[in-house]
Amino acid sequence: MRAGDLARLLELRPRSLEGRAARLASCYTIEDLRQLARRRVPGAMFDFIEGAADDEIAAQRNLDAFAGVVLTPRQMRGNGEVDLRTELLGSSSDLPLAIAPTGLNGLLYPDGEVEIARAAAAAGIPYVAPAMGSSTLEAIAAASSGPRWFQIYLWRDRALMQELMSRARTAGYSALVITVDTRVAGSRPRDLANGLTIPPRLAWAGVVDAIRHPSWTLGFLGAEMPDFANVEARADGQSTVEYVGSQFDAGANWDRVAEIIAEWGGPAIVKGVLTPADARHAAESGAAAVLVSNHGGRQFSRCPATLDVLPAIVEELRGEVEVYLDSGIRQGTDIVAALALGASACLIGRAPLFGLAAGGRAGVARALEILRDDLRRSLVLLGVSDLKEVSGELIGETPAGQARGRGSGETHAA
Ligand SMILES: Cc1cc2nc3c(=O)[nH]c(=O)nc-3n(C[C@H](O)[C@H](O)[C@H](O)COP(=O)(O)O)c2cc1C
Repeated sequence: MRAGDLARLLELRPRSLEGRAARLASCYTIEDLRQLARRRVPGAMFDFIEGAADDEIAAQRNLDAFAGVVLTPRQMRGNGEVDLRTELLGSSSDLPLAIAPTGLNGLLYPDGEVEIARAAAAAGIPYVAPAMGSSTLEAIAAASSGPRWFQIYLWRDRALMQELMSRARTAGYSALVITVDTRVAGSRPRDLANGLTIPPRLAWAGVVDAIRHPSWTLGFLGAEMPDFANVEARADGQSTVEYVGSQFDAGANWDRVAEIIAEWGGPAIVKGVLTPADARHAAESGAAAVLVSNHGGRQFSRCPATLDVLPAIVEELRGEVEVYLDSGIRQGTDIVAALALGASACLIGRAPLFGLAAGGRAGVARALEILRDDLRRSLVLLGVSDLKEVSGELIGETPAGQARGRGSGETHAA
């Protein structure tokens, strides 16, 4: 065999692909990006992404639910092409996927939210800008031409909520995501143990760890320390973390959600729904979509896995409003499972954050590319050529012998 043949056989990468690009190119899964992220950022920052509430059981349950899904391929169908485009809230998206709101991305990479928004725009999928971002919603809007939604919490200060909604409208955000699972902040032991403060103040151990992660540390030289940029000006003497902490409204109810949706005046998504009854409340409050989410297991450790509660919620809503799902999506097959059980789309939180921490915008782009290729390949292997064909028929018996989901023949509400 000649050397050239051997190189082709081994698909050797050209020497020019060096440094960060080479490291990202040799990530083939979200797990690979996670490992790269773990090496690149200090432990406290990695824990901020990966950590979850209390004993972290809900976060693990999300992953286990997807791992337990059996999808059964059907042979000699389709021509190898799959159209992955879909409509979300009346606008087209290149994938049945959007990026979930995640706050304080500036801790992981300078201008983190802006970098993620740009990668989402390049992939043609919606990006949800977080109220608690380290970049302002205006800075994100100015940097990204893609579809953008804005996320808010139910905060006590109504004037603050009105101000944020008005700014989001002016900046061209097309939908509002209302997070309803944060009546109080969840307890995340990793962050507590690491003494994660906003803005970050490094203890001695943190300084040593920062020195051991120079590519993360160098990114912050000359940059401002990340803070909650959208609300910084309102903190008025308090630290922003105290101010934001005091804002969560533990007494908010569905009437308040309806009021906010009416004030917004456009499509709204209620994020954090886990029961059919709450899905019904969200729909009756005027939501155009519900997001079945347990916040990636970051709020309450005994939550059900979102995949397990999805079928009953889809059944309750019967196509009246769109149903999305997040919490635990790490592979294309996870997206297939959620669509097969009735979701119109999935959102991802940690997957793009591992990419961001591993390599900025290019890392997020790699995460999206991995998921897109995985989704396409999985659908071809399953004998599907159109997202509308993704149905409960694909779901097989689980190893425990229990059929998951809604039985056969139902098509997801694309
Ligand atoms: C670091 C981090 C920060 C987050 N910040 C927010 C936030 O500001 N607002 C919100 O509604 N959800 C937030 N979430 C939850 C995500 O929107 C999403 O529900 C969750 O990450 C989905 O689970 P996954 O990470 O397993 O994909 C955050 C998640 C992470 C990992």
